[in-house]
Amino acid sequence: MITKPSRWPWPRVLAHRCGGALAPENTLAGLDVALHHRCGVEFDVMLSADGTLFVIHDETLERTTNGRGRVADTPDVVLAGLDAGVSHHPQFVGERVPRFTEMLTRCTALGLAMNIEIKPSAGMDRETAQVLAATLAQAALKEPPIVSSFSEEALAVFAEASPATPLGLLVEAVPPDWEARCRRLGAVALHVACSAVTKPLAMAVKRADLWLATYTENDPLRAVEQLGWGVDCVITDRPDLINPESLGLGAA
Ligand code: G3P
Ligand code: MG
Repeated sequence: MITKPSRWPWPRVLAHRCGGALAPENTLAGLDVALHHRCGVEFDVMLSADGTLFVIHDETLERTTNGRGRVADTPDVVLAGLDAGVSHHPQFVGERVPRFTEMLTRCTALGLAMNIEIKPSAGMDRETAQVLAATLAQAALKEPPIVSSFSEEALAVFAEASPATPLGLLVEAVPPDWEARCRRLGAVALHVACSAVTKPLAMAVKRADLWLATYTENDPLRAVEQLGWGVDCVITDRPDLINPESLGLGAA
């Protein structure tokens, strides 16, 4: 069971996929960007063929790495040897696909707040959630992350295994029964595509005593507008333009 604090306890800006557009996505290099701009980080976790969590967004390797095929079919030893930097910019050659445990260790050492998105490959919702819950239990973090997912199955399994970890339900279009879905899962936050957020929605989410995060907002004026509506957190690819300092929010 979670006692929900009245105020969003993570930074008001999270760098999408670690460093947003300023670093190769879902890499340790992105953490330096987030730290520099005093943001927290959002990143995606998926299981390898060996059942290990790696930090990666797509089910396949081609877009972000020099590998080929499905993450779910790729053993740890191969995944860990791939280059996840060069497709972003030659400056990042040699950047790796991090294991989730490496990401946890580095974020903890840097004091970076985390939004961990469960990104199951097809049919792996339950297993991905279970491994995440077990890994977090072992890590015994002092500051809890917020765990989110588009997969309600993954969130339900995770909640059962890790009832004290705050959850965010991710949606693209806002379903009419968003509040019932959040209640059913015990989610404390709704994470909504920035194209779908409106002032009435923000007000309704506040009335429901839930937090509201928007993704992936890259326009500083829109970010300011959303925060004015009561949005608690903006997830952005442009932490250089949208960060606590540029928004006049102080450190958090
Ligand atoms: O968690 C917000 C955002 O990351 C969801 O979309 O596809 O970038 O993981 P995606
Ligand atoms: Mg994500």
